[in-house]
Amino acid sequence: MTGPARFIEALRNCLAAHVGQEGALGPFIEALRDVAPRLSGRAEDDLKHPLLSQLDGALDAALGPPDLVESVAALASAGGWYQVYTGGGINAEMADFMLAKQIVGPKGIIASTSMRAGIFLLAPHFEYRMHDHAALKIYYVHSGAVDIQNGTDSAPRCLRPGQYSITPSGVPHALQTGAAPVLLLFVWIGNVTAPIWWWVQGDDGVWTQTLAKKP
Ligand SMILES: [Fe+2]
Repeated sequence: MTGPARFIEALRNCLAAHVGQEGALGPFIEALRDVAPRLSGRAEDDLKHPLLSQLDGALDAALGPPDLVESVAALASAGGWYQVYTGGGINAEMADFMLAKQIVGPKGIIASTSMRAGIFLLAPHFEYRMHDHAALKIYYVHSGAVDIQNGTDSAPRCLRPGQYSITPSGVPHALQTGAAPVLLLFVWIGNVTAPIWWWVQGDDGVWTQTLAKKP
C-alpha cells in the first residue's frame, strides 16, 4: 500500500472509531472510503521555510493510532509543504505561521477536485483569524493543543490529540494555538473550490466579509 493510501485508510479507521460520540462523521468517512488511490504524479515542492524546523518536534508529540502516527510522519517528512496564503496583501504573519500538505486535493499526491485531505502545521502562539468557506470541514488534532471557535458567538473549545472539530459549510471559524506547534489533519468535502472569506468585526460590532483567497 502506498503512503497516501495508508494515510487515508488510517484516518478513515480513526474517524470510524469515534462514531457513536458524534454522528456527523459519516460524510467524512464515506468520502475517505471513496477516494480512488490513484497517484497524480505531481512533483512535490521542496519548500524551505522556517516553520518546518518545528515539524519534527510536532511529529514527536503526536498521539493516536500507531498506523496513523506512522503514516503522517512518513508523509510529513517527505516534503510537499506549501504556504496556505501567499502574496496579494496577505498579512505576513498569517502567511508564515501556517503550512499545509495536501494528500488528496488539487495540490495533492492523489488528485481530486471534490475533496481535500492532508496535514496542517500551525506555529505556536498563532491566531488563524475568523474566516469561512463553503466546504464542510473536519479538523482532527494530531499533535499539540488548539482552541477552535465555530461561529462568532460561540466560545472556543480547546482540542487535544484525538479530538476533532467539524465546521459546517459557511460557518465562520477561528483557531488559536498555544506554546507548542500544532498538527491538524483536515478533510474538506462539498464545494472545496469556493473562495475563503475573512470575517472582520467593526467597532460597531457588525461583521463584514472580505475575500481572503480563491483556492
Ligand atoms: Fe477554515
